[in-house]
Amino acid sequence: SKVVLAYSGGLDTSVILKWLSERYGCEVVTFTADIGQGEELEPARDKARKAGVREIYIDDLKEEFARDFVFPMFRANAVYEGEYLLGTSIARPLIAKRQIEIARETGADAVAHGATGKGNDQVRFELGYFALNPDIQVIAPWREWDLTSRERLLAYAASHGIAVEHKRQGASPYSMDANLLHISYEGGRLEDPWQEPEASMWRWTRAAEDAPDAPQWLELTYTRGDVTAIDGTPMTPAQVLATLNAVGGRHGIGRLDLVENRYVGIKSRGCYETPGGTILLRAHRAMESLTLDREVAHLKDDLMPRYAALIYNGYWWSPERKLLQQLIDQSQETVNGRVRVKLFKGQVTVVGRESASDSLFDPAIATFEDDGGRYNQGDATGFIRLSALRLRTAARLARKGH
Ligand code: ARG
Ligand code: SIN
Repeated sequence: SKVVLAYSGGLDTSVILKWLSERYGCEVVTFTADIGQGEELEPARDKARKAGVREIYIDDLKEEFARDFVFPMFRANAVYEGEYLLGTSIARPLIAKRQIEIARETGADAVAHGATGKGNDQVRFELGYFALNPDIQVIAPWREWDLTSRERLLAYAASHGIAVEHKRQGASPYSMDANLLHISYEGGRLEDPWQEPEASMWRWTRAAEDAPDAPQWLELTYTRGDVTAIDGTPMTPAQVLATLNAVGGRHGIGRLDLVENRYVGIKSRGCYETPGGTILLRAHRAMESLTLDREVAHLKDDLMPRYAALIYNGYWWSPERKLLQQLIDQSQETVNGRVRVKLFKGQVTVVGRESASDSLFDPAIATFEDDGGRYNQGDATGFIRLSALRLRTAARLARKGH
């Protein structure tokens, strides 16, 4: 039998690689994805080769990730529990999809991942696997083995000739996950929710107080709800994210420090840097404010928390997420135009919006000046009287001493 392992080349997945062949005696295919985590991937190839792996997949999935996962999610303005921009959640379905494809290509009957048994990622990976191949075998080493502490893991590595780069440059005391949308930090000192993260933890953004003293303006062009150009330069989705991360990071945009509810029932403290996503969310809402019908916008807002929870909980490939996506995508037909934002010391401020083709904003009606009779103020009298009818009925009843 054969198993496709989601492999980063780090200590944990290197141990898993060895453990899989020992425990199951199976051949291991490694799969390493570039989703913009900003790490060299060739070392993973070397390590896999040295470990005796014969089929090594290293795929650049950055454009697919941005185009087919991040951008569709941002059309919904998705935010989990009011704050989290779902940076890790949205990457898992893509990794699951590619793993299942590779299993088919290589004739593997199983897939494996390195997520612990305590978190969301195991659920997201495995719901993805099963949604895309109902017969796949899933191996989750963290739920099976007895390497339940760092110490045991290191001992296993040592006794099996797995290189441990102890004082690896940039080694971090946190559990981290990075991609084109965000970088996350959990564990270590953060396990005390009262403890402020040390300044040196943050990697993508400057502290707001260290950001430039001069603001910077950006103009984002929207086509059907997606940013297609920045300052007039056409860009692919991945280029948009990379550009906004760089500029936003310099201005201290997109830091978060929160406690979230994991799907498995654990409360978890996490810190996140999502500079580009934070800009995208504000700008997209501004673009919609001009181009969406009020009830359509409000309906989207009603559905958004459900949509965000589906992604957080791992249901990207579910029928209900796909159904919601159709509604969201259709709503974006008119979301075309430009938004201008100002970045300054950790803040994104929308300072302009316009849509030549789809603006529902009618200055002739909205004006405080003479509108030439286009809006009849007298209409408001009946509108308000009828709206007040049941309020007056209730008030009369109350006055009777009820
Ligand atoms: N808590 C976040 C989430 O559930 C981030 C998880 C980070 N994952 C990791 N393997 N470090 O989406
Ligand atoms: C993990 O448990 O592997 C990381 C955290 C999470 O998945 O929520």
